[in-house]
Amino acid sequence: MKQFKFPTSKPDLTAVAQYLSTGTAKSIVVMVGAGISTAAGIPDFRSPKTGLYHNLSRLNLPYAEAVFDIDYFRRKPEAFYMLAQELYPGKFRPTMFHSFLKLLEDRGVLRRVYTQNIDTLEEIAGVSPEKVVYAHGSFATNHCIDCHKEMSKVDIEAFMKKDDIPKCSRCGGYVKPDIVFFGENLPARFFKLLPGDLDAADLVIVAGTSLQVHPFASLPSQVSCPRVLFNLESVGDFGRRKTDVIKLGPCDEGIEQLVELCKWDKQLKDLWTKTAKTANVAEEEDAASASQKKILKALATTAAANAEDASASKEESSAEEGSEEEDESLAQDDLDEVQQAIEAFNELEIAVASEDATASKSESAVEKAKV
Ligand code: APR
Repeated sequence: MKQFKFPTSKPDLTAVAQYLSTGTAKSIVVMVGAGISTAAGIPDFRSPKTGLYHNLSRLNLPYAEAVFDIDYFRRKPEAFYMLAQELYPGKFRPTMFHSFLKLLEDRGVLRRVYTQNIDTLEEIAGVSPEKVVYAHGSFATNHCIDCHKEMSKVDIEAFMKKDDIPKCSRCGGYVKPDIVFFGENLPARFFKLLPGDLDAADLVIVAGTSLQVHPFASLPSQVSCPRVLFNLESVGDFGRRKTDVIKLGPCDEGIEQLVELCKWDKQLKDLWTKTAKTANVAEEEDAASASQKKILKALATTAAANAEDASASKEESSAEEGSEEEDESLAQDDLDEVQQAIEAFNELEIAVASEDATASKSESAVEKAKV
């Protein structure tokens, strides 16, 4: 069993800072999720009130994760593309945590970042592509879901600009970015690099993830080296090992505390300042509320469209049965559904305004194999 010169007597941020600043930790593997991008204005998935799945599930989808379900996409690609419009890279500025990843690479101690995120903020913060593994894919490439013909970024962006669903020029099938949907395989690069990286790691940092989706969720328990968690709540099997360091709370605050202890705070601030020009979000605009409002507004229109479909099809069926009064109540149900969607959108506005992202673990978390 490999030995690590990590001060186990008192495993806390000071011990981690000592392990880092003395140059003892030389091969750091970082594993992240949507929580490292919430401060950039991109909602995570499972946080109560502000998480996408909490709001999506009230917007007339069969279930919230359907937005990333390949079978649902085949039937109704609009929901995914509504979301893609708002999550598409280029609108958001990296967070302090993303700049910390760049700092680790600049100091020559970053082995790899395994990210579940599709926002590419790791590379936008300056991390080299070869240092990043997009475990759940990204917007970088796009393929037809039927004949797998590739579509260029330029072409797919042209479709998205017109709010059209991208269609394959060869077979007419729907085209989607190579984001891993539930039921699809993770990228080959993930499986190729993982064994060597887990074996070489002398420190694993996990941040901003509920560790609910496999196989990513099992990664932290596969290493023998010291582990640090920066998360709003404790997740996975953190706490089971006496060397585990758990820093609960916003990951940007946790990481700023760590770099201050390492005396790397100026370097981090300089790196983050450089990211100001990477986003074309108007500085004074609050990206958090702006993007969440846009996502919900876009999806509320999906709900309205679905409600219309539903009442139209129910009108046909109830016309056959000739049940007038049932017809009114059905139409009323659909209108209630849309009303709920608008309420969800308004509620989110209040939640975002009052920064009411509570830290409790979401009971709606979903364990779904992604392989
Ligand atoms: N600082 C620290 N932790 C945060 C912050 C923050 N600022 N904001 C949110 N979190 C935490 C939440 O408390 C939660 O534990 O980050 C975690 C986010 O969990 P999820 O919303 O489940 O996101 P993630 O773990 O990335 O989801 C994994 O699920 O649906 C799939 O493909 C999707 O890649 C995604 C995967």
